[in-house]
Formats: sequence, C-alpha cells, structure tokens
Amino acid sequence: MRHYPIDPYTAALMTRAQPAPDIALYRFPHRHLLGIEGLSAVEITAILDLADAYVAQNRRPDKKSDVLRGRTVINLFFENSTRTQASFELAGKRLSGDVLNMSVSTSSIKKGETMIDTAMTLNAMHPDVLVVRHPDAGAVHLLSEKVTGAVINAGDGRHEHPTQALLDALTILRRRGRLENLTVAICGDVMHSRVARSNIHLLTTMGARVRVVAPQTLIPAAIERFGVDVYHDMREGLTDCDIVMMLRLQTERMRGTFVPSIREYFHFFGLDREKLSYAKEDAFVMHPGPMNRGVEIDSELADDIDRSVIRDQVEMGVAVRMACLDLLTRSNIAN
Ligand code: NCD
Repeated sequence: MRHYPIDPYTAALMTRAQPAPDIALYRFPHRHLLGIEGLSAVEITAILDLADAYVAQNRRPDKKSDVLRGRTVINLFFENSTRTQASFELAGKRLSGDVLNMSVSTSSIKKGETMIDTAMTLNAMHPDVLVVRHPDAGAVHLLSEKVTGAVINAGDGRHEHPTQALLDALTILRRRGRLENLTVAICGDVMHSRVARSNIHLLTTMGARVRVVAPQTLIPAAIERFGVDVYHDMREGLTDCDIVMMLRLQTERMRGTFVPSIREYFHFFGLDREKLSYAKEDAFVMHPGPMNRGVEIDSELADDIDRSVIRDQVEMGVAVRMACLDLLTRSNIAN
C-alpha cells in the first residue's frame, strides 16, 4: 500500500488542533467513492465540512463557482432515478462542470458485458468523474477498476449508497450540531436497503448509536455484527431515540412475500404520530425518498415541517454531491 503525506487539514483534525482547519487544504486520500465502509471519521468529517460550505453557496442568488471548470462528469444510470440523478446533475453544473446524463436500460441485454462495454466507451471520452448507479451489488466497484477517472457510487443494488448517508449525516449535523451519542432508529425494509447499509457504516463510525427496527423477514442475517441493536417492535425501537429514519418498502427487489399485507405492515411498522410519540419529544423524521405514503409513513406526518426533515435532505443532497465532486477531482491520487 502506498502512503501519502498527511495534508494539514487531516493533521489538524487528528491532533484536534484549534482553530478549525481549512478545508481548502484537504486532499481526499481515495481515488473513488464506492462506499462509506472503510472511510475514516476524519474523511467523513472533511466531506461534511466542505458540503456545509456548499449549502451556503447554494442559497446565494449566484449559485455557481469554478471548481469543476473544464472538467467532465458523466452520470451513468443503469437503474431508474429522479432525485439522485437530478441532484448530481445540478451539483456538477453549480461547480461549472460539463455534465452528461446517460440512462441505460439493463433489461434487454446481457448485463456484465454491456456495463463494461458502455463504461469503456465513455471512458474513451475522458470523463473526470463517472457517477454510476446499477441494480447489482458490486457492479460499480467492478467498473471502477476499468476506467481512468474517479467513480462515485450512486447506489449499487442493496449494497451501498454513500452520498445518501452523507446527506443524511449533514441534515442531522445541521439540526443537532453533532452525530456522536445520538440514537438513530432505522426502520422498515433494511434487508433490501443500500441506504440503511451506508447509514449504519457512517453513523457507527461517527459514534452514534444505531437501532434497526423491522419485522424479522426484513432484517438481514447477522446484522448485529455491524454494531446495531435489533428491534421487532416499533414502539420499543423508537423509545427515547433522537432520529427516526424511515425506509421505503422496496418491492422491486423482493423475490417472494416479505410482508403479509400493506395494511398490516402499516399497522405494525408504518410511522404515525402515535408511534413517534415514543421517541424523544424533539425527535425528527427522515426518509430518503421516494416515499410510499400510507405504507411506511403516514402522509400527513411526512409533510409536517415541524417533525419531518425530508425536504432538508433533498437540499443537503446537492451540497454533499458538490463536495464529493470537488474532493475527488482534487484527490492527491493520480487518476
Ligand atoms: C434510495 C435508493 O435509490 O436507494 N433513493 C434515493 O436514492 N433517492 C432509496 C429508495 O429507493 O427507497
């Protein structure tokens, strides 16, 4: 393994030096962003720090800066997406990059072959960053080994969705001022959720306590080894927690029956005001979207701006993606 000199930002964070280090000095020590697993607390903090500055930029009348001028970002989506693709597109454009969107259907052709062929064709056009979403876990990693630019995983099967966990963390951080020692309940279809996996890695790395709350059929085997507590009763799982993170019931990834009926699922595991009352009085509600209203979350509660931060999450998404594009294009690892 090669070792790179520690940049002043990392050195200051590691020694807890005051005043706060300047993020402009930071060099992200990875070529790609394929997942949260394996990132250190310093690396996560650096991304969030930079993203926080981009939130301010995005609220100005003039939202553009020059960080990606001359750079090319390709969004390569092998799976449907509205908000993630739009968020990455806007992020690239706010930084003055050239952004190309490619949506590729995987249904009709042999998957592995097509994906690599497509990636190699695009690679020949010298993109600086490829943002890739794919229905198969591991596909984005495989692709990253074949291309010359940086790769950002925008969701691979049920494996990881790192920018979603980062935007969730930024949302929490801006509300609570910390991640450490908060109790976060991740509820619903944990089994099929890359959002849950990335959040579990991030939150446990940053010192939060994570509970997963779901019926037995929607919890992956041996999930406890990731340092989470498992609950099968919503009221018990939500008791005294600071944040309730709801997940979509991902029927498109289910082979077989995982819940008896939608009505019964909502009755036991859908978030409504009564179940939320078991959490701390100021607990807030998150959801990565798209929501199934009346399935995993009560529609009126989802729209309650005093309890739900779902719109904040969307705003933070653009800022986090700007930070990731910025850091990967100033990485000290030659592409
Ligand atoms: C999530 C995803 O695609 O994994 N959505 C998203 O990124 N906006 C969660 C989901 O699809 O339920």
